[in-house]
Amino acid sequence: MRLYVNIDHVATLREARQTAEPDPVRAADLAERAGADGITVHLREDRRHIQDADVRALKASVRGVLNLELGAHDEIVRIACRVKPFQATLVPERRREITTEGGLALRSPDRKVGAAVRRLTDAGIRVSLFIDPDLATIDRAAELGVPAIELHTGRYAHTWRKGDAALRVLRRAAAHAKARGLAVHAGHGLTYQNVQPVAAIAEIEELNIGHSIVSNAVFWGMEEAVRRMRKLVDEAPPLTAES
Ligand code: PXP
Repeated sequence: MRLYVNIDHVATLREARQTAEPDPVRAADLAERAGADGITVHLREDRRHIQDADVRALKASVRGVLNLELGAHDEIVRIACRVKPFQATLVPERRREITTEGGLALRSPDRKVGAAVRRLTDAGIRVSLFIDPDLATIDRAAELGVPAIELHTGRYAHTWRKGDAALRVLRRAAAHAKARGLAVHAGHGLTYQNVQPVAAIAEIEELNIGHSIVSNAVFWGMEEAVRRMRKLVDEAPPLTAES
């Protein structure tokens, strides 16, 4: 299971003072030293945290994978095609949202997302689509010809204490996506308390985790925060959809 650490909120803290610290490049370096397989950042249209210069600096400094999250907006897609991260994850983006709320609501056919997928793919970038764990949406993603999807774990993250219904939905979605030939990623709202049942889903090969790691890095330091998450992910017992 790959662990990619989302460092947007290191930039959120910097932007709160519009100064030079904390530096996302330094955070990425420490996260990689502590066992992160990749670094994820979201270049939002409103540039509320990560800036264009951060993406360029991270492309030059990250040793593992750089995963750039982006909305299917012309300007941002153009920047992605120029910077060429290894992976781009298309997400829905609304201006006033606090964080990405819900996955891409793919239409059939979806011209806007389809055009962004083609431009990114033509630039040599591996494309993933951030979608809800819904079987019809997974089928639409497969029709768009992407190699990967990221399942939105938000509903699971909000309800895991009350029962395993959302986990079962994630398991079924992961098995369905894998059967359709898609690589399965997952993320959103995962924490030290709730990550293991998701990390145990055998079909999921990559987790993107940000807020919980950066929050705890305030107390433990970035390396320790990543090490502890890495350990939980690695120690999750493997399960299949049938178990
Ligand atoms: N994956 C995607 C597509 C996201 O948009 C986010 C939030 O930026 C995450 C993963 C990470 O979510 P969290 O910060 O809640 O761990």
